[in-house]
Amino acid sequence: MKTNTAKQEAILITGASSGIGLALARHYIELGYHVFACGRNEQSLNTIGGAYPLVFDINDKYQIEQASMQLSTMLNNKGLTLTTVVLNAGSCEYIDNPLQFDGALFERVINTNLIAMGYCLQFFLPLIAAHGRIGLMSSSATYLPFPRAEAYGASKAAVNYLASSLRLDLTQHDIGVSVICPGFVSTPLTDKNDFSMPMKISAQQAAIDIFSGLKKGRDEIHFPKRFTYILKCLACLPSGLINNLLAPKAQKHS
Ligand SMILES: NC(=O)c1ccc[n+]([C@@H]2O[C@H](COP(=O)([O-])OP(=O)(O)OC[C@H]3O[C@@H](n4cnc5c(N)ncnc54)[C@H](OP(=O)(O)O)[C@@H]3O)[C@@H](O)[C@H]2O)c1
Repeated sequence: MKTNTAKQEAILITGASSGIGLALARHYIELGYHVFACGRNEQSLNTIGGAYPLVFDINDKYQIEQASMQLSTMLNNKGLTLTTVVLNAGSCEYIDNPLQFDGALFERVINTNLIAMGYCLQFFLPLIAAHGRIGLMSSSATYLPFPRAEAYGASKAAVNYLASSLRLDLTQHDIGVSVICPGFVSTPLTDKNDFSMPMKISAQQAAIDIFSGLKKGRDEIHFPKRFTYILKCLACLPSGLINNLLAPKAQKHS
């Protein structure tokens, strides 16, 4: 049900054309917020009723700059205040053969999940109002090492540090920083996974948890709790035990 309480508040979400970002955009719109929905897939963004689409590739800093100028104009024209920016866009690719480490894959994933975040901060951060908040999308995969996740895990672990450091520096400017660490969420990204994903939740549930965590000003938003607390406990084990638990078994040669 729409409420009018949030009618001058604007939210920007990257990666809003699919999965978690799309569900989060719909959730905010349902609650009466003005949502700037970002992505490359214009057709998909146009299907989000009530959103303002901003089409750009986060791996192109000039496109991000153009989008930020468009955003600034629209905020002014509509008399809106940008209170929340959720940098959610990301991709996942796995290193299938560690002995033939794919450097280009590593670069792609780090660029999309980390470097692009730096440019989004450069151009969108100046538009956030005081008392505002930034959400940076990481992953609960950062709590433990996982096989084949060298690129994805490294990109998201770096996001955790980025969030912690940025939080310190933005405190004086009265802007909060939340790092978001979901467990498995059912989206086109996880549909490609070829392994079991325990305690997987829907994108709609993830959106509710992210909205609530941002609203409460949480530094770390992690869910589903039954899954993330297990990972956090396992992370306290000695690294040798973690290796025994998680390392792929050596293949037997006959
Ligand atoms: N699903 C999970 O279980 C899970 C768990 C932990 C963390 N996460 C993180 O949550 C975020 C969203 O993932 P998801 O599962 O919702 O995946 P998804 O359905 O594949 O959505 C990814 C989104 O990122 C956007 N994106 C990717 N590359 C982009 C680029 N170069 N420029 C602009 N936008 C780009 C896509 O938009 P376009 O295709 O329109 O460009 C799309 O909207 C990711 O950062 C992911 O790492 C997901």
